[in-house]
Amino acid sequence: MRFWIQNGRVIDPKTGLCNVGDIVIENGKIVDIKYPGGKPDGESLDVRGLIVAPGLVDMHCHLREPGQTHKEDIASGTKSAAKGGFTSIACMPNTTPPLDSTDLISFVKNAPASVHVYPFASISQGMKGEQMTDFAALKEAGAVGVSDDGLPVASAKMMRDTLLLAKKLGLTVTSHCEEPTLKDGVIHDGAVSKKLGVQGISPAAEECMVAREIVLASVTGAPVHIAHISTKGSVELIRDAKARGIPVTAETCPHYFSLTDEICEGRNANAKMNPPLRTKEDVRAIIEGLCNGTIDAIATDHAPHHADEKGKGFSAAPNGIIGFETALAVAITSLVRPGYMTMSEMLSKFTCNPAEILGIPAGKLEQNAPADFVIFDPEEEWIVSEADIASKSKNTPYLNYHLYGKVKYTIVDGKIVE
Ligand code: DOR
Ligand code: ZN
Repeated sequence: MRFWIQNGRVIDPKTGLCNVGDIVIENGKIVDIKYPGGKPDGESLDVRGLIVAPGLVDMHCHLREPGQTHKEDIASGTKSAAKGGFTSIACMPNTTPPLDSTDLISFVKNAPASVHVYPFASISQGMKGEQMTDFAALKEAGAVGVSDDGLPVASAKMMRDTLLLAKKLGLTVTSHCEEPTLKDGVIHDGAVSKKLGVQGISPAAEECMVAREIVLASVTGAPVHIAHISTKGSVELIRDAKARGIPVTAETCPHYFSLTDEICEGRNANAKMNPPLRTKEDVRAIIEGLCNGTIDAIATDHAPHHADEKGKGFSAAPNGIIGFETALAVAITSLVRPGYMTMSEMLSKFTCNPAEILGIPAGKLEQNAPADFVIFDPEEEWIVSEADIASKSKNTPYLNYHLYGKVKYTIVDGKIVE
């Protein structure tokens, strides 16, 4: 049975497509993309006035299963992802226990889900930073990459060995960059941390580790992907490394180009994450890094935490914010509407670029590609409200924000996710 998506403004950053058109789907695959006006030989969906793009790819999120299902589980997390327009997501291994065995990777890979899930395995057993996991077996079981996200890999030797082995096996290595001896603190080290009387986290905590990873990628010739960069200094280090031909890629998150540490003044624990929100100057540098290609991808770092945990007080509350359901709208509101990037340039950070870094079949519209789409109204204004959030957790700093850009349909393997 064929399914036609008709009259949408089709944007595909990978092929440069930007036309009103019809997409024909059969057996979960794209069979044709053509000029509008054809007569559908099957079911059809008229999306006149809406943008049709490849389903979004999130290369960094937390689904919390197994072990922390009071925060999120694979079913609720993937529903939240679909609501935000994501059709492929890579989840980090800092679950309880961490995803360090083939059984756990198979469990996540095969759990019922609304979107495609690509698990990362941990680099070290139990994420303790001592013994490396069995990368080859984990890859075989379905891991797309390795990371000790949430914790820095303290040993440079372990990271060097990780890069070399991961390159051989075709696994992506994502590094959560924090120098362990500099990482303690509550929010960014600056005027706001001083005003609140809390310990600050220096940009150097991130930048020292970004510099180390660049050196290791350079000496090994093996690629490294830097997670959630937040500082101007990190952008500069990565720009310079790329100019020297070092195989480094990087992601940032919507909060690092739309918010500063000033919103922590109200001691809102939902504005607390790791790395922390930084300054206006950092936000400007992150936007510039996105525009000039230093930063390849936008990931959500969707990190659900229960209201009771976030309610423990500003300093004691765990780090992390949810992100699936606001990511696209924050990018439209903060990057596209002010004119920093075109819609297609912005979408490349959510589609082909992360898909290529992960090596997954996603993020582009062409014949035989999976029929995964996000269909959205780029102009619709909406207000973020707790009642509308599909995630089990509601820890977002964007509550009551007015955002532009509303997802209308998410299609996975040719079927609308309800
Ligand atoms: O804020 C964060 N939350 N940063 C991380 O790296 C981990 C994440 C989590 O798992 O909650
Ligand atoms: Zn992280």
